[in-house]
Amino acid sequence: MLEVQDLSKSFHTLTVAYEVSFSVPRGGRHAVIGPNGAGKTTLFNLIAGAVAPDGGEIIVDGVDVTGMAPDARVRAGLARSYQHNNLFPEMTVRENLAAARAVHEGRAPVFWRPLGNFGDILRAAEDLARRINVAEHLDTPVRQLSYGTQRQVEVGLALALEPKVLLLDEPTAGMSPEETRAMQALIGGLPADLTIVVIEHDMDVVFGLAERVTVLDYGTVLLEGTPGEVRASDVVRQRYLGGGTP
Ligand SMILES: Nc1ncnc2c1ncn2[C@@H]1O[C@H](COP(=O)(O)OP(=O)(O)OP(=O)(O)O)[C@@H](O)[C@H]1O
Ligand SMILES: [Mg+2]
Repeated sequence: MLEVQDLSKSFHTLTVAYEVSFSVPRGGRHAVIGPNGAGKTTLFNLIAGAVAPDGGEIIVDGVDVTGMAPDARVRAGLARSYQHNNLFPEMTVRENLAAARAVHEGRAPVFWRPLGNFGDILRAAEDLARRINVAEHLDTPVRQLSYGTQRQVEVGLALALEPKVLLLDEPTAGMSPEETRAMQALIGGLPADLTIVVIEHDMDVVFGLAERVTVLDYGTVLLEGTPGEVRASDVVRQRYLGGGTP
């Protein structure tokens, strides 16, 4: 469903991706880990089209999207949620999800009329709210929600784009243990045929969710393997997990 082949990118003299490759089958759960500045978010920027690669290819469901603009990649099936909040704080959860939906359906120009005129979009927003476990907050302005719940809504914005491949950048960053568990439940409850790539610092989340893990270090793939293989790897322990005993 997602193939990343030999992706490379430098910012002037700084190499942030060097021949990065991995592939994820339909419904696969793939994690990307690595130290701060390893190039994880840049990898998502390359996949989603926010940054142009110097070399390499990105294939989504058999379609080469490497030369496509970000919006064309969304239509090809890619959606992402960001490391930092991207919501409209004064709008309710329902309005945020409905807005994302309306934009996705190409109906943004009519969206600012009263929402009651757009029953199908509202129903889609309610359905999304259920899928991200925030149905009880539909009428709450986003700024009144806890940080963790806001990040759940953020995932909803990405799901509104009906992706085949969902890219999640540190979905549990800054969360309390309780908020982390809620996000884990959300991700774990997503449809089995949705392909998910997650950047994550919390190793419990990585090892609980991912079938395969790519370890990035200075823009290169240090290792790819199962969570067990990564946990057992000496080089990963030394470079990333702090060099302690397992
Ligand atoms: N547009 C840019 N121009 C120049 N340098 C950039 C740009 N984007 C990222 N970088 C640099 O590339 C390196 C990788 O950054 P990136 O944000 O991809 O790391 P990361 O692995 O996501 O880190 P973190 O764990 O802190 O989120 C960093 O040194 C960063 O400063
Ligand atoms: Mg990052």
